[in-house]
Amino acid sequence: QSFFKPIQGASPPPPTSRSTKISVVGVGNVGMAIAQTILTQGLADEIALVDVNAEKLRGEMLDLQHAAAFLPRTKISASVDYSSTLASDLVIVTAGARQIPGESRLNLLQRNRALFSKMIPPLAAGSPETIMLIVSNPVDVLTYVAWKLSGFPSNRVIGSGTNLDSSRFRFLIADHLDLNAQDVQAYIIGEHGDSSVALWSSISVGGVPILSFLERQQIAYEKHTLEKIHREVVEGAYEVIRLKGYTSWAIGYSVASLARSILRDQRSIHPVSVLAKGFYGIDGGEPFLSLPAQLGRSGVLGVTNIHLTEDEAKQLQESAKTILEVQSQLGV
Ligand code: NAI
Ligand code: 2OP
Repeated sequence: QSFFKPIQGASPPPPTSRSTKISVVGVGNVGMAIAQTILTQGLADEIALVDVNAEKLRGEMLDLQHAAAFLPRTKISASVDYSSTLASDLVIVTAGARQIPGESRLNLLQRNRALFSKMIPPLAAGSPETIMLIVSNPVDVLTYVAWKLSGFPSNRVIGSGTNLDSSRFRFLIADHLDLNAQDVQAYIIGEHGDSSVALWSSISVGGVPILSFLERQQIAYEKHTLEKIHREVVEGAYEVIRLKGYTSWAIGYSVASLARSILRDQRSIHPVSVLAKGFYGIDGGEPFLSLPAQLGRSGVLGVTNIHLTEDEAKQLQESAKTILEVQSQLGV
């Protein structure tokens, strides 16, 4: 029984076209910031939420559903098992322990790895064609774990990586030069964390390479000013955690930007955590870390071949070593 009567002479409606479904696993600070940004940007027809905390899960689902009159039409469901996630186009994993003030991301590994052993196999089985986007920390190593546990091809398992750090970097440069961060092209690559690498040599603003511009104009810039900005990027998350207990809004926007590029096949370049073996002199092992990657409907379409200085390449290889050392203790 339909609420509407068809108009005279109308043909029967075609079968409903396939809708876009995103699952968000973990409805804590990060999962909910991501879900709400995806909702407001109208990126999905269906959002499925999963958490082990049944009351919080239902509360968050209802709270989002109650915003229906102000949002693009989106079906929102929730389940404590993985039944609501079946046939997802994108599965975003945010479940797990977060840092207490001063704690490093790598310190979370053992706790969150144990959760991944329980979560990833059923998620992969329920959505065998999905793209998996890992956010839980330490994100690079857990993306490797998810790749192994899912059995998916490497192009379909992606870590949110330094997409967030790069936004922090672009904000700080824009703030320093009084510009719009969207006009600043700048990447942080490597580990999402303490060994990340700032690619100073390739920064440009409105198509103008910044370092050579400063040199040409004979504007003095001190190496330590650059290092200070990178340090602020690395310490940014620690500061937010110290002040408010967790980070959420920036990662919400960062992951929504990745969801858009993937599901809308935007083919845009994002620094995200991918299988880095064979790129930029990273030869040993199978580390996942952030490189500028092109994202589209099938996940990672490729890695951009940007020029790194010798020093930047060396720092990246050191970052890969840090991650491989941690990975080697996993026994996956
Ligand atoms: P939170 O404590 O607010 O939420 C974690 C949620 O995971 C809780 O609701 C908990 O019930 C749920 N959970 C635990 N075990 C689960 C399971 N087996 N299945 C489903 N849900 C489960 O933590 P918050 O702040 O949301 O952070 C989540 C993770 O995201 C942390 O690991 C944090 O370090 C990471 N993070 C990563 C960022 C990145 O850039 N990659 C940025 C910010 C946070
Ligand atoms: C962030 O960078 C804590 O990884 C988290 O916001």
